[in-house]
Amino acid sequence: MEIVIEVKWLPCLSRCLSFGGFCIPLRKSTGHTPVQTSLFQFMAKEVKKKSQIWTIGGGKGGIGKSFMISSIACCLAGKQQRVVLVDLDLGGANLHTFLGMQRPKVTLTDFFDKKAPLASLVVETGIPNLSLLTGMVNSLAPDSIRHTQKARLFKQIRALDADYILIDLGAGTHFHTIDAYLLGDKMMAVIVPEMISLENMYYFIKNVFFRKLINALTEAGLKDLVASTWKDRDKYHIENINQLTDHLHGISPSVAGVVDREIAGFTFDLLLNMVRNDQDIMVGMSAKSVCMKYFGFKARYSGYVEYDEVVSRCINRRLPYLQTHPTSKTAKSLETLTTTLQENKQLIAT
Ligand SMILES: Nc1ncnc2c1ncn2[C@@H]1O[C@H](COP(=O)(O)OP(=O)(O)O)[C@@H](O)[C@H]1O
Ligand SMILES: [Mg+2]
Repeated sequence: MEIVIEVKWLPCLSRCLSFGGFCIPLRKSTGHTPVQTSLFQFMAKEVKKKSQIWTIGGGKGGIGKSFMISSIACCLAGKQQRVVLVDLDLGGANLHTFLGMQRPKVTLTDFFDKKAPLASLVVETGIPNLSLLTGMVNSLAPDSIRHTQKARLFKQIRALDADYILIDLGAGTHFHTIDAYLLGDKMMAVIVPEMISLENMYYFIKNVFFRKLINALTEAGLKDLVASTWKDRDKYHIENINQLTDHLHGISPSVAGVVDREIAGFTFDLLLNMVRNDQDIMVGMSAKSVCMKYFGFKARYSGYVEYDEVVSRCINRRLPYLQTHPTSKTAKSLETLTTTLQENKQLIAT
């Protein structure tokens, strides 16, 4: 249940809190009664603007997920937004390198090994408004993370105090990666203009949708339905996700309702990296069409980032690219991309 609490300013009266339709005047001059004070504290907490969570994935490694998300984080921070970058690449956490930092002393390892509160592990990056939660020092095998640990981690990520929480993920389709990806209010998928990266993205997104559908059907009391149907797919002549959803549709109106709702609500943002020419830019359009045509998924083509050979030099020398090359074409494309993402817009073919 969502509680919406409005705080109204009534200029000629004293300060008033409007709560569930009641207005409670708070006298400035004489202070508040204890009840008013605790109500005010409770409401101030509730009124706190909800952070937006953006996650980045794409299936394939080496396509620029970490470069893109750290750069988007810098752009948002430059727009006076308070940003926390969270490195959840369990295989090779390296976001600090993209920001030109040495690895901080406190990392996610302290959360898992010492039960340190997550918020206490967030460190300043030296870039105004941008802080970082560094990933695991000794990369933890994803399978060793327990369900309760993951639930605690996700709960504390959601509670971090920021305007934007940006989560970087590793390659692959491990269910921990997919669960973390699904935390996103905005889920971004990175591609580069190469066939293999597109195939990896389709595979990744398909897995994300499966997981989301399984979660929704589990909530509806139908836990094993997708998995068992997919296991028997040869028997049912199911070869792709459309045929699977058609099959599930035929099972019962309530299953059909869940499937329809999940498909309708499933959107993600396509980010094209390492663009070298105009022809490359169009790859994003094709990828978006394929998502719609073959999977029925709505993707937004949010923008592209130019290839710049200087990027790898910066990373090797621990120099933050955007700070050192703010006027490059790549930096400009990252700024445009960030604004497009904030505004939920997309590129359209002209
Ligand atoms: N736009 C770009 N232009 C040039 N090189 C890039 C660009 N984006 C990423 N790279 C290079 O690709 C490498 C891999 O990027 P990274 O962000 O680590 O990928 P991922 O997180 O997907 O594994 C980086 O070290 C960098 O050298
Ligand atoms: Mg990475």
